Amino acid sequence: MGGSLGITTTNATSYAQVYQRSLTEPEAFWAEQAKQIPWIKAPTKILDKDQNDVWRWFADGELNSCYVALDQHVEQGRGDHIALIYDSPVTNTVAHYSYSEMRDWTARVAGGLQELGVTKGDVVIIYMPMVPETAVAMLACARIGAIHSVVFGGFAPRELAMRIDDSAPKVIMAASCGIEVDKVIAYQPLLNEAIEIAAHKPEHVVMLQRPQALATLQSGRDLDWQTWQQQAKPVDCVPVAATDPLYILYTSGTTGKPKGIVRDNGGHAVALRYSMQAIYNVGVGDVYWAASDVGWVVGHSYIVYGPLFAGCTTVLFEGKPVRTPDAGAFWRVLAEHKVKSFFVAPTAFRAMKKEDPDCKLLADYDISNLEYQFVAGERLDPPTYHWLKAHLDVPIIDHWWQTETGWSICANMAGIELLECKAGSCTLPAPGWDLRILDEAGQELGPNQEGAIVIKEPMPPSSFPTVWGDHGRYMDSYWSQYPGFYLTGDGGYRDEDGYVFVMGRTDDVMNVAGHRLSTGQIEEVVADHGAVAECAVIGIADQEKGQVPMGLLLLKDGVNIDAATLQAELVQLVRKSVGPIANFKTAIVVKRLPKTRSGKILRQVIRKIIDQQPYTVPSTIDDPLIIDELKETLIEHGLL
Ligand code: COA
Ligand code: AMP
Repeated sequence: MGGSLGITTTNATSYAQVYQRSLTEPEAFWAEQAKQIPWIKAPTKILDKDQNDVWRWFADGELNSCYVALDQHVEQGRGDHIALIYDSPVTNTVAHYSYSEMRDWTARVAGGLQELGVTKGDVVIIYMPMVPETAVAMLACARIGAIHSVVFGGFAPRELAMRIDDSAPKVIMAASCGIEVDKVIAYQPLLNEAIEIAAHKPEHVVMLQRPQALATLQSGRDLDWQTWQQQAKPVDCVPVAATDPLYILYTSGTTGKPKGIVRDNGGHAVALRYSMQAIYNVGVGDVYWAASDVGWVVGHSYIVYGPLFAGCTTVLFEGKPVRTPDAGAFWRVLAEHKVKSFFVAPTAFRAMKKEDPDCKLLADYDISNLEYQFVAGERLDPPTYHWLKAHLDVPIIDHWWQTETGWSICANMAGIELLECKAGSCTLPAPGWDLRILDEAGQELGPNQEGAIVIKEPMPPSSFPTVWGDHGRYMDSYWSQYPGFYLTGDGGYRDEDGYVFVMGRTDDVMNVAGHRLSTGQIEEVVADHGAVAECAVIGIADQEKGQVPMGLLLLKDGVNIDAATLQAELVQLVRKSVGPIANFKTAIVVKRLPKTRSGKILRQVIRKIIDQQPYTVPSTIDDPLIIDELKETLIEHGLL
């Protein structure tokens, strides 16, 4: 395998030129970017349609994503460069791992997986916290062509069980616990319960024992990670097709069942490698930090794959923006590791702002290495933007993307041409994204007119080609409303300069503290309570977390239950079934729910009423009087 990490040269130098070329000559544009990847077999087909009639990139290319992330750097003489810094205030650890160490470790873990019978195309679920072993587990799967599916530690057993049944993993890699500030969350009981609930049973569980909570291993099924790893023989990278899946990452859709977003190897490697340079302006030797969790797409793309593809040092932080130990934690990490480009969700800054409104703790640290502050995961609200701008002497760049895309749809392309930032905007579409704003009839809207944000096909590399095991859902959810255009599920507008303002979801997806959840997921659990006849869960505005869910309940006839008791029971039920990250704390009883004549609950109208935003009651409403009745109930509960 070979390849180099030079910066691509094109004649285009301004953002406008680069963007224009990416749309007029997409194949030439991405073929050029593909040259930055050490292919095993370089692609000759750049853009093609697959058997599902979906556009695919680099179909006849072959590569290995672990090779791109680790081996190539070692082979090019950068083995002693630091690949990963593990910074864990919750365990008082800071550890550095070189590219050679990461490669050797990953090769051994990959060998261990092979010895368990895991081969190309098998699924491995990873249910692990923010420890270096999680990144190693992901890369080890990639090394042997297995498909990983990481499940975020904050999800409850029922959610994990759904993912086990949908992806049918041969092996689950887990850790004995996660640490949430000062709480030790034992994972083994959660995992055992999930395996119990699931119809599919994995053949093995490889358990990383953490001293904070040791797991009791089940003989025959469970293996102790350390012993297993020591006995394993290192293995080489297995070639895979560019279009073979690298991972499945489940995300929330509009129903209670999560969607398995599939990411392929080739397009992902090319797009992420490109984004590191073109968006984040980092390359070999630069320190890059995304303060997210490996359980989310940000963690996949920008804690693990992107920075390693580009030869950077990535920081894996097991802590919080506050309480580990204080609101200066991020400044400490930025200073200590000399981070150049930093990426975090705005909710984290809101949490810091609440505890340290004048950002006094920053004075204790030298963060002069920082050149860019990136935010995503939810809209960067103007007050947080202004707070950051007042305290940081670097560009504050909001960029917008989704699990489905794997990298930014819109950004301020710092590595091409840094443009003016506007509060509330994620700037302009990144190269390859042909973005349009459409009205309900599919007509394109003009400047400052809000509508559905869609992308004209073909989408650039890394975009998902299907939903795992359910291609029909892929077509129905994303491509049926406006044929030829990908429905992002977000609404917004472009201003007179073309700047994009993403204003929020137009469907029933919520964004709670940077975590994507569906109202349907919580509704299913609430509706299961014996007293509840019907319910609607709405994501309402919250100053710190962006949105939080709230339940509106209709009780069964004859049920007599104290409202506070019912709410407490429902809160526990949601914690147990969805997970604590749902932040479900409020449930109120209403007399009726506003619906259309066909029975669809008017969730958007209810949300806008509670958020005190302008709303339009559709003419199809069953009984307009219900709106006034609902408002009275909300006033009684102090919600209006
Ligand atoms: N495992 C187990 N439990 C978890 C968890 C995990 N990985 N993550 C969160 N939880 C728990 C929390 O401990 C909390 O439990 P509690 O109700 O018993 O106190 C609950 O879930 C709610 O968590 P959260 O909403 O995250 O609140 P928080 O106060 O713990 O933290 C923030 C608030 C803003 C610091 C945190 O949400 C955050 O960093 N968000 C950024 C998310 C992100 O990076 N998203 C990716 C997109 S860029
Ligand atoms: P996820 O798939 O978990 O990354 O969540 C994607 C969703 O988060 C998007 O569809 C948006 O609703 C929201 N989102 C992410 N980044 C931004 C951003 N920069 N501005 C506005 N919304 C965002």
